[in-house]
Formats: sequence, C-alpha cells, structure tokens
Amino acid sequence: MGQTIACANQKGGVGKTTTVVNLATALAQVGDKVLVVDLDPQGNATSGLGAGRNPDGRSLYEAIAGTAPLAELVSVTSVPGLSLVPSSIALAGAEVELARLAQRERRLARVLAPVAPAYDYVFVDCPPSLGLLTVNALTAANSVLIPIQCEYYALEGLSKLIATIHLVRDHLNPALQVKGVVLTMYDGRTNLSAEVATEVRRHLGAAVYDTIVPRNVRLAEAPSYGQPVALYAPDSRGAEAHRELADEMRRRDGRGETGTVPPIVLDGLGPGRSTLPAGTARVLGDAEGAA
Ligand SMILES: Nc1ncnc2c1ncn2[C@@H]1O[C@H](COP(=O)(O)OP(=O)(O)OP(=O)(O)O)[C@@H](O)[C@H]1O
Ligand SMILES: [Mg+2]
Repeated sequence: MGQTIACANQKGGVGKTTTVVNLATALAQVGDKVLVVDLDPQGNATSGLGAGRNPDGRSLYEAIAGTAPLAELVSVTSVPGLSLVPSSIALAGAEVELARLAQRERRLARVLAPVAPAYDYVFVDCPPSLGLLTVNALTAANSVLIPIQCEYYALEGLSKLIATIHLVRDHLNPALQVKGVVLTMYDGRTNLSAEVATEVRRHLGAAVYDTIVPRNVRLAEAPSYGQPVALYAPDSRGAEAHRELADEMRRRDGRGETGTVPPIVLDGLGPGRSTLPAGTARVLGDAEGAA
C-alpha cells in the first residue's frame, strides 16, 4: 500500500525540503516509486530536483485551483523512479484564494487521491507556516514527518504543530499519524547538537528516527546544481545519511529486508495530547510552550 507523507514544521529552515528531496531520492534509488509534491510557493523542492518549472508554466496551483488534473502536472526528474509536481509562486495566492472556496481544506486530498495509489511514497513538502496549504497537506496525508534542527530552540513551536495535527485529526483526517521525527543539521563538533538530540529523544521517544542527518556542506551545495545530494556527491556524509534514513523508514514500514518492526510509540505525540510533556519547554527554551 502506498502512503502519502507530509513533511511539516512551521519553523523555517529546519530541513524540510532537504529531507524531502534527498529521502525521496534515496527511496527511488532502492526501487520505490516516489512522487514529490511541492506545496511551498518558494519552490525549493522544485529547483532542488532540477526539474524546473513545467514548460507550459503549469504547477500544483492549477490542480488546486481546479483548472487541470494533477496527473497532467507530474513531471520526471533526473532520478529514475522519482517524479515531481512542481510548485510556482502562484501557490502563494492560493492560500488566500482557497479561503473562500468550499471544502478548502480538502482540495489537495481530492486532487491527489486518483494519483497517489500509483506510488509507494508521496512526499508533500510544506511551506514554513501552519496556514491553509499546510492544513491541506495534513488532510491529504497518511502521516506527518517532522524535521527538527539540532539547535538551541529545537522544540520551539512544536507544541503548536502538534496541536494543529490534533485539530486536523479531530475534524478532517482521523487517520493522520505521526510518521516520525528526523534530527537534522547535527554538528558532531558541538556539545549543543548532542545535548539537543538527547533531549529531543527523551521527550519524543521512539518517534525519533535513529538516523541523524549531519550538517554537511554537500547537502547545502547540491540544490544550487539542481541535484539531490545522491547525484551531486554520492559519497558524502549527507548522501549516506539519507540512504540510512530511507533504509530505516522502509524497515519501520515493514518493507526492509529485516521485516516488520513494531509500530513506533508516539511518546508525547499520542492521541489526546496537544502539548509537549512538562519540562520540555524549560529544557529547550520553548517560550511558547512554557506559557
Ligand atoms: N544537513 C544539512 N547540512 C547543511 N546544510 C543544510 C542541511 N540541511 C539543510 N541545509 C541547508 O539549510 C537551509 C534550510 O534547509 P531547507 O531548505 O531544507 O529547510 P526548510 O525547512 O525546507 O526551509 P523552509 O522553511 O524555508 O521551507 C538550506 O540552505 C539547506 O541547503
Ligand atoms: Mg522548504
């Protein structure tokens, strides 16, 4: 059964797009059929995959606005097995235009439904906000993948994201799960990264993937060449980490060679919780959570 995964965190620059582009690539490279849907008007996943805009200028916006079927907007990438629905700046307007449409939270779910079953994994790259576009992604998805950057305010705002996930679960998409939490931009030279990683694990438990994505300059350089890191620098630590993350995700999904592992326990993210465990805010300086 294929699955749709929204990569979300309203915090900007935490590694959502880097995770989507490089995890999707790693999964495609082991034979999965993967689609990336770029829901961010910034279009970073689109440019990072080097697919550019569709020649006719059409993007996901057309599907959401209802002027083209999403299937017509799927384009190939330089990675065999990996396809893309590109973004465009028009999506920035969609956030406002959607507000007055019927079923405004379900537009993406409806246009994606006929296309998603053809893929093993569909990743939706969300913009850094909890607005209507992200709500559309959460409504369309089976699960949410949450990148967390290994820095001091790592958990800042996470309680708001979790509250949004619970709202979507209660009103729009009861089956929505938390897929997992990925620690990103880990800097092995600093104590801070290690401390943050330990704290995030302590509070979010088994929801956190074992694989940690290190800070790696090749990951930052690759998008300017329009390539996932696996093509730009296949031997880099960044490429290796995303291959490991793909392996771990497939194992947790029961798709790996070692068979099924038990479903993850969503410590602190389980049903009925809309706040982080007591102490999280204090430890990690979450001003909002401390309120
Ligand atoms: N592991 C890493 N090592 C080094 N640089 C990284 C790493 N992950 C991401 N970056 C860089 O950090 C910046 C932010 O990453 P990215 O665009 O993936 O975050 P994002 O959460 O998608 O941002 P936004 O919220 O704007 O969509 C980018 O310039 C990216 O190249
Ligand atoms: Mg992004």
